[in-house]
Amino acid sequence: RAIDGIVIQKSMDHFAKPLITLTVLALVSSIATGFRGGVFSVTFLSMVYLTGDIISRLTSDTTQVSDLISQNVNLFLRSFVKAVGIFIFMFGMSWKLSVVTIMGFPYIAVVSKLYGEYYKKLTKEVQTALAQANKVAEETISAMRTVRSFANEDQEADSYYSRLQEMFVLNKKQAVAYACFMWSSYISELALQVAILYYGGHLVVTNQMSGGTLISFVIYELELGEALESISSVYTGLMQGVGAAEKVFEYIDRKPKHILDGQQAPETFEGQVEFKNVTFAYPTRPEMDILKNVSFNLRPGQVTALVGPSGGGKSSCVCLLENFYAPQQGHVLVDGQPVNSYQHKYYHSKVALVSQEPVLFARTVQMNISYGVPEAPMEAVIRAAINGNAHDFITGLSKGYETGVGEKGAQLSGGQKQRVAIARALIRNPRILILDEATSALDSESEYIVQQALNNLMREHTVLVIAHRLSTVERADNILVIDKGCVAEQGPHAELMARGGLYCKLVQRQILGTVIDADVHNPSPAPPWKLKEGDKESAEDCSDTENEARY
Ligand SMILES: Nc1ncnc2c1ncn2[C@@H]1O[C@H](COP(=O)(O)OP(=O)(O)O)[C@@H](O)[C@H]1O
Ligand SMILES: [Mg+2]
Repeated sequence: RAIDGIVIQKSMDHFAKPLITLTVLALVSSIATGFRGGVFSVTFLSMVYLTGDIISRLTSDTTQVSDLISQNVNLFLRSFVKAVGIFIFMFGMSWKLSVVTIMGFPYIAVVSKLYGEYYKKLTKEVQTALAQANKVAEETISAMRTVRSFANEDQEADSYYSRLQEMFVLNKKQAVAYACFMWSSYISELALQVAILYYGGHLVVTNQMSGGTLISFVIYELELGEALESISSVYTGLMQGVGAAEKVFEYIDRKPKHILDGQQAPETFEGQVEFKNVTFAYPTRPEMDILKNVSFNLRPGQVTALVGPSGGGKSSCVCLLENFYAPQQGHVLVDGQPVNSYQHKYYHSKVALVSQEPVLFARTVQMNISYGVPEAPMEAVIRAAINGNAHDFITGLSKGYETGVGEKGAQLSGGQKQRVAIARALIRNPRILILDEATSALDSESEYIVQQALNNLMREHTVLVIAHRLSTVERADNILVIDKGCVAEQGPHAELMARGGLYCKLVQRQILGTVIDADVHNPSPAPPWKLKEGDKESAEDCSDTENEARY
């Protein structure tokens, strides 16, 4: 009727009324559409995030990027070409009206730019929130037994829920931004239409343009609007893709702080280890020196034991020798060369570690033992298992060496896990063997047997043991007492005992351990923070003694 009004009756009065109706109708429908779009994305997102599909979302960042970009680039190009084509036609029909159309462009460009930036930022935040939520879920699920044993399911669920809430808030923001953008683009489109109808109507009324041309122009203008609309919705998708991509690229661009680019792989590897004035702090806590000017030597064919109070820095020495970190000052030398000058694969075929908390993989026992040396024959696997005192229990399992150990080895006992880990270290016949409290989860019987096996191996190897049982430490050729990041004293057992220093104290504590334990064992009915002032001291005493008594 608007067009009728102009074309047939050529009266501005008839033209204005439907125009207002058109405006209102279009406004309402644009509000509805924007709203629907917004609500749709909210429901869609919340559905996805609540169906337990959460962990896989982390990997889906990359999929999202490639999907969004491939789909949208295609649509974007098509709509863009269409818009340009239409515009050329429109220009041919009436340059004056086309200029009116062009006048709307800067506004659209500015709004799109602002929206795009905002949406991109939100998408990045959503990805971060998602990763956070994933982290909580993953941690909780993988430590299910701990959560259970402390009956902390509700708090874990709450913490997960609050992360999801954070994400939901962001999703809502995204939805609102989308709705606002849609409204604004509908409104700007509508304003353009109104302007064109108004000015076109004026042109027709003043006989500068035929009614037919105006109709075609308006039809083209509608087509143009459609093309621009699809460009803007594609733009949203593209910005989402770019936001996700930025996150992905952040990870790709991250430079490792400790680069493994050593090249050396000498034929002979003796296994002379020297810590030379090593000062070290973990990158996560750079202000706290864990090791302070530590120097010591490990010699081939000798067993060196590291002892000392828990938290003194024993495992940190192991980390440096394993080339996990670089010291801030000083050097860790093997055969006179810094550890990071050796080729990564080569070095770790010569240096094997059985760590304090060995982690097995969710594979068969055989695959766990031959981890990193998949070409090792079955005989070698069995030999390593025998040396690690694991063969007997493995053959007793339902499928022997083919038995799966469960995630992180959860289907084995602590001692069994440690024995598999020992076999995994022994199979590569390393020159340097590091045992970081490797036998601590074994019963005395198994420990004795493992110890026997290790004793045989120790003759040809450089061995570094961290142990808290006297039996292991006593026989070591050299004992290093590490306390608060310094070498407090060193020497063989007899010498250190005669000196009567920290080592002597630790040994006496262990021998008298049961007596001390009985002394300090003071069952308190309430948790320490609920104790009254006067009681506090005794609680602290208790924990102090416990700390020192442990090696
Ligand atoms: N990854 C780490 N990041 C920061 N600090 C750490 C890290 N690992 C251990 N520490 C700190 O280093 C100190 C020594 O730890 P560690 O070498 O494991 O002692 P231990 O002698 O019991 O093996 C402790 O105070 C501990 O808090
Ligand atoms: Mg340790």
